[in-house]
Amino acid sequence: MAILVTGGAGYIGSHTCVELLNSGHDVVVIDNFCNSAKESVARVQKITGKKIALYEGDVRDGALLDKIFAENKIDSVIHFAGLKAVGESCAKPIEYYDNNLVGTLTLLNAMRRGGCKKIVFSSSATVYGTPEKLPLDEECRIGGTTNPYGTSKYFQEIMLRDVYSSDNEWTVVLLRYFNPVGAHESGMIGEDPSGIPNNLTPYIAKVAIGELKEVGVFGDDYDTHDGTGVRDYIHVVDLARGHVAAIDKIEKTGVYTYNLGTGIGYSVLDVIHAFEKACGKKLPFSIKPRRAGDIAACYADAGKAKRELGWQATLGIDEMCASLWKWQSQNPKGYRS
Ligand code: NAD
Ligand code: UFG
Repeated sequence: MAILVTGGAGYIGSHTCVELLNSGHDVVVIDNFCNSAKESVARVQKITGKKIALYEGDVRDGALLDKIFAENKIDSVIHFAGLKAVGESCAKPIEYYDNNLVGTLTLLNAMRRGGCKKIVFSSSATVYGTPEKLPLDEECRIGGTTNPYGTSKYFQEIMLRDVYSSDNEWTVVLLRYFNPVGAHESGMIGEDPSGIPNNLTPYIAKVAIGELKEVGVFGDDYDTHDGTGVRDYIHVVDLARGHVAAIDKIEKTGVYTYNLGTGIGYSVLDVIHAFEKACGKKLPFSIKPRRAGDIAACYADAGKAKRELGWQATLGIDEMCASLWKWQSQNPKGYRS
């Protein structure tokens, strides 16, 4: 039996394909490459020495999904495909709701037609909105999201819960990622943002290779240990292994929700200094005003995933920065290098 990975050419999807293939699963990918390159799939095959069945197309194309279910024996789906840029989602809410909500609905419909009722969904810590307490556990209130991207994740969680309520043969796993960073140890696959990165670590990496002048630190007057924003950065390979654990360990039907994080919060300055260690040079930065919509701190209580899935993050901030530096320096222009 195979696992259908939607968005499998993307950043987290490609790393998850490596871990799935390495743990003996067959993998089918659908991706429309709107935010990725076909080359990532080729590289995953090179890293693992295994083949992926690749379909180029959109998850909103129900006929294509029917064809995929007909041509492959798929027993579960990991659903990464979606748009993910917070700022862009405020400018393009229709595109975001269309891609993310219609995409998930079309997929669920096709899964039902194809008799496949196990889905692992890429959710986000963003569903917690402003944290009611720290660390965040899975019982914390969700909603109060502040942008269409986050709201689409919140809506999709509700949609998936409703599907299970209507038919208890489904298995729905909601994985709430904290801040995925880093790259595969080979340096062959990694995050490849187009244009100027919005997220902190790809931005730092571009400063380190000299493509951007300095890191702008968005605010140094937060109530955190050094005044800069604190996040729970998680190595993308640990995150990918969390998906394998969800696929392998969860056999009973139901709705399962897990935070995937390390439980440790690092500030913006902590990350800059860790990256300086990884790349062996000083990185210029300057303090800028706070970024609209940012919160002071966000980190997980990741205990539930450890207790129930036997999964926990094993790679620390130094490994995150070293692997990102390896990917960035080996592929200064990402997959176009
Ligand atoms: P990504 O953009 O690298 O990967 C998404 C992939 O989906 C891309 O390959 C893209 O081409 C594809 N895609 C998008 N819309 C599609 C469609 N309609 N049909 C087919 N393919 C489509 O992003 P990522 O960082 O790998 O994120 C994967 C998932 O995890 C997303 O759902 C994202 O919202 C979620 N997530 C990401 C983060 C993060 O910080 N990276 C945090 C929390 C949640
Ligand atoms: N930051 C800077 N300078 C930058 C970029 C970011 O100082 O150039 C700061 C931010 O203010 C924040 C921290 O670095 O304090 C992390 O910012 P990111 O943009 O890297 O990440 P966010 O925590 O804002 O959001 C990310 C994803 C969201 C996801 C969320 C939780 O972008 O999609 O993690 O999973 F929802």
